[in-house]
Amino acid sequence: MISVILGLQFGDEGKGKITDFISRDFDDVVRFNGGSNAGHTVVINGEKFKFHLVPSGAMQSSKVILGNGMVIDPEELISELELLKKSNKNIDIKISAGAHIVTKMHKCLDKKEEGIRSKLNIGTTSQGIGPTYEDKYARTGIRFIDLSNKEIIKDKIETIYNMKKNLLAGSIYENPEERNKMVDELCSFGNSILKYMDYTENLIYNDYRKGKNILFEGAQGGMLDIDFGIYPFVTSSNTIAGALTTGSGFSFRKVNRVIGVFKAYTSKVGSGPFPSEIVNDSTLRDLGSEYGTTTGRPRRVGWLDIPLLKYTIMMNDVDSLAITKVDILGKMKTIKVATKYTIDGKEIDYFPKRLEDFNKLHVDYVEFPGWGTINNAENIIANGYDELPENMKKFLEFIEEKTGKTIDIISLGEDRKMTITKEIFN
Ligand code: GDP
Ligand code: IMO
Ligand code: MG
Repeated sequence: MISVILGLQFGDEGKGKITDFISRDFDDVVRFNGGSNAGHTVVINGEKFKFHLVPSGAMQSSKVILGNGMVIDPEELISELELLKKSNKNIDIKISAGAHIVTKMHKCLDKKEEGIRSKLNIGTTSQGIGPTYEDKYARTGIRFIDLSNKEIIKDKIETIYNMKKNLLAGSIYENPEERNKMVDELCSFGNSILKYMDYTENLIYNDYRKGKNILFEGAQGGMLDIDFGIYPFVTSSNTIAGALTTGSGFSFRKVNRVIGVFKAYTSKVGSGPFPSEIVNDSTLRDLGSEYGTTTGRPRRVGWLDIPLLKYTIMMNDVDSLAITKVDILGKMKTIKVATKYTIDGKEIDYFPKRLEDFNKLHVDYVEFPGWGTINNAENIIANGYDELPENMKKFLEFIEEKTGKTIDIISLGEDRKMTITKEIFN
């Protein structure tokens, strides 16, 4: 079985939780995009693990792979690997020779660029993601394999510095000694992590030929995709299913199942249009503890948005849906779901690309009664779907009807065990 799992909203849908849950069925779990802008939470019997770079399948699969489409901060990687070691998890980790390296200078550039953007400030995670992808496409980027060669690192650091000198004015990187220090540091990081390097495109293909089950784990969400998200309030990589091919080297033609994860409501970190946003009421944010895993920033929160979901389902060609946080949403007395977008009185059947259109966008909602706190979770977990509260079932069936897709995984709490599935995942 070859599957891909993706977020269908603005990130933080609970992909980490669902990836961990289903990875019991997979030998390899492969990340193919993003870097430590991602924050994926896995909770197992009350113990919390946060992954930024390492795939969230790490606790159940036997091999995890960081693909070439990723941008890797070596310092963050080393600290995540330390944590894994502490949790006594012996896992085979492979990192693509072609993945790109995030340096401290990239993080500095991230902040400098945000400062210049003014009105179109994105609210990035400050993890150096944008500047690292910029260098990748400018063909000046430092790749994982380059960590083995001090001369190459030095040359590339100087090239990047010279290209971005204006932006770096006033920073410590104007001082050549600081740049040299960074080169030495990168070499020393290399000494401890180069042992994980591999030509992962060959490795994944060989595992496929051996009949291994492989799960591709997307970071971020469809609405943060550089091409199909709400540009420019997006991340710097493609986040839709197609990115697995360019980000790992494995053909999309061999994927058997696309799993789309969405939250029972919507959240967003950072700026930009958010059609179903709830303004001036933090009830849902507080109920759901909606604060960023990576930055700790309060997340903006809104209602479930069906037009948005239908768009990302289409862009990912989703087969199977997984919903999270229904336990949280049910505590709201009245629940709203966005069902229709209109502009100037006309329903639109596309997702707007012109920012001004969002000012004219009218959103229609339908209402559902909440289902309260779930008190019979053990019974639900033991006996499945039929035991869910009737109001929740109505809500879930409405989503299935509107999207034309089945919800095959339902998450009722942060812990791995708080999950029910339909037949195909049993
Ligand atoms: P990701 O980026 O998509 O992996 O999501 P994050 O880990 O950044 O954010 C999701 C948050 O919701 C984490 O704190 C999870 O532990 C939590 N979570 C996931 N699923 C559920 C659920 O069904 N119920 C509750 N209450 N929390 C959940
Ligand atoms: P996971 O994988 C939520 C958002 C940032 C910002 C925009 C650009 O945990 O779902 P970047 O640092 O990538 O240049 O920031 O994208 N963003 C995320 N929001 N979850 C994420 O990842 C995100 N990764 C990036 O908040 O608005
Ligand atoms: Mg997250």
